[in-house]
Amino acid sequence: MAGARRPRTGGDLRQLAIIEDGAIFIRGDRIEAVGRRREIEPLIDSDCEVIDAGRRVVMPGFVDAHTHPVFGGVRANEFEQRTAGSTYREIAARGGGIRATVRATRNASLTDLVKAGKRYAAWFLRNGTTTVEAKSGYGLTTEDELKILRAIKQLKDETPLNYVPTFLGAHDIPFEYKSRRQVYVDLIVKEMLPRVAEEKLAEYCDVFCEEDVFTTDESWQILSAARCHGLGVRVHADQLSLSGGARLAAELNAATADHLEHTDATGIAALKAAKVQPVLLPGSVYALGSSRYAAAREMIDAGLAVVLATDFNPGSSPTPSMPMILSLACTQMKMTPAETISAATINAAYSLGRGDEIGSLEKGKGADFVIQDVADYRELPYWFGVEHPWRVYVSGKLACAREQNGAVARP
Ligand code: NIG
Ligand code: FE
Repeated sequence: MAGARRPRTGGDLRQLAIIEDGAIFIRGDRIEAVGRRREIEPLIDSDCEVIDAGRRVVMPGFVDAHTHPVFGGVRANEFEQRTAGSTYREIAARGGGIRATVRATRNASLTDLVKAGKRYAAWFLRNGTTTVEAKSGYGLTTEDELKILRAIKQLKDETPLNYVPTFLGAHDIPFEYKSRRQVYVDLIVKEMLPRVAEEKLAEYCDVFCEEDVFTTDESWQILSAARCHGLGVRVHADQLSLSGGARLAAELNAATADHLEHTDATGIAALKAAKVQPVLLPGSVYALGSSRYAAAREMIDAGLAVVLATDFNPGSSPTPSMPMILSLACTQMKMTPAETISAATINAAYSLGRGDEIGSLEKGKGADFVIQDVADYRELPYWFGVEHPWRVYVSGKLACAREQNGAVARP
């Protein structure tokens, strides 16, 4: 995955810089050298531990740039209701959806949230993800939002997974503010954001900009205030309708605009002009039973540095699996396997301000890598629904290992 020090666009998305019969030399938590085995072998001394990857694919850990991994309860009941014809919006309108998870999350203690979060952290690692962007957003009171962000901090300290925290107090208008929307927006701006910034609990701020949720004007108030507190900006944009979220993200020079299932050509051009990275989330389209996927090919043709992520959450996208997302991106959005790998590693790392740190296996970067039990990277999206990682390393340390039926045979 070596390449220029910038997010990949156009034809560069397909350049994976694969090294056949390769090796990596790691010291502590850093990559010191990457090359052909015969170039690396002379560096081995008696202090080294040698790990034989057995001719498997070794690649950077996935960077999942959009997740909601801290919440109370599950919503398998709503999943069943959708099989009987209810839509996501209908379920939300009758008090389910995000509001159901908000009730369960408010009732959960910090300890409960960390306990559930550890279970999901293990799922991410098992699927080869080494860094997740993690949003709050199921508390919607100052104390409950802080509780979620503190849970994320604790998960970062107590699991091998890396977390990049995002404050999403504007995930929904809480029930008690339905007729006083501006009062809730003011609460976010005047109370929540200052506390989050003061306690350094988030690097980014996000808003669910959507019909019946936050208008572009309300989103602008929140995100421009976040900017003043030094937070980066991400936007849930044009997910269920063309709500203007992509244009807003461009106006605010956001790091990312996420979802974009309804974004039109004007929105794509605005993202390009403002260098906003699109984060595409086909897992939520799939799990909601829709067929309206984001226009990935148009975005790539327009020169956007596309990112893929799971949107892991208990409602619209209950999957921690980046390989599943890669498979959906190939079959439903016609991205090539190589493009999906770039979008899920190096581009995702840049979208989180960590392009120089993670996302590729290059000298000087953190040693976050996965030994996949396949002989060809294209097998990752091809064998869908299989957990391929054989060994997962974060900062040079083994974070997850699975015994399988030996090395893959290669002709
Ligand atoms: O990204 N779009 C808003 N938020 C989530 C859904 C959260 C939920 O249903 O609990 C999403 O799809
Ligand atoms: Fe989301």
